Amino acid sequence: MDNKIVHKLKDPWKHKLDTMKHYNALAKAYDTLYGREQKMKMDFILKNLDLRNRRKILDVGCGTCILFENLYDEDKIFVGVDISEKILRIGWIKFRDKINLFLVLADAEHLPFRDKVFDTIFSITLIQNLPNPLRSLEEIKRVSNREAAIVVSGLKRKYTFKEFNTIIKNVVSLRESYDVEDLKDYIAFSIS
Ligand SMILES: C[S@@+](CC[C@H](N)C(=O)[O-])C[C@H]1O[C@@H](n2cnc3c(N)ncnc32)[C@H](O)[C@@H]1O
Repeated sequence: MDNKIVHKLKDPWKHKLDTMKHYNALAKAYDTLYGREQKMKMDFILKNLDLRNRRKILDVGCGTCILFENLYDEDKIFVGVDISEKILRIGWIKFRDKINLFLVLADAEHLPFRDKVFDTIFSITLIQNLPNPLRSLEEIKRVSNREAAIVVSGLKRKYTFKEFNTIIKNVVSLRESYDVEDLKDYIAFSIS
């Protein structure tokens, strides 16, 4: 596999530790710096996805829970996973009184869930941070139940559209992918 897709890192765990420290340091400023940009991506995603019959929703690399702020609903179960404790704390403050939303400190390449649990999985602006995005997509696929919707976005400045699509197609069944002019990410809609 291409070096740009599976990053040939000497020490992937050191890379993850550095990423964790980076986002810990950024946590308090994250929404101010990136909230608007991320919300634009989410608005596009939510306009193109019907969530009415979907109940168990996972966001891998959930950050400060901007996505959940945009789709929270009392009748569904929401789970967010992130490697940065400080980023998760910001999300926790937003949702601490909600009993149907859970935040888990974990690695996207080793998800701590049983197989086939979720019917909708998001991963927004995460994959470029990972030593092995394919490994994370395999984990996402593993925890997805049959016909789950999988929505992944990736930074345009990191990949070409072709590389992005190759990553997604390697693991899940790509339905549609978009290169929208005003958005900083490519966005792919797939099923498990
Ligand atoms: C650019 S932010 C996007 C956050 C959120 N998805 C959003 O759209 O606002 C990337 C997030 O991925 C998290 N992350 C990076 N590497 C990770 C890993 N190996 N496992 C889980 N989360 C990770 C970071 O801590 C950060 O919160």
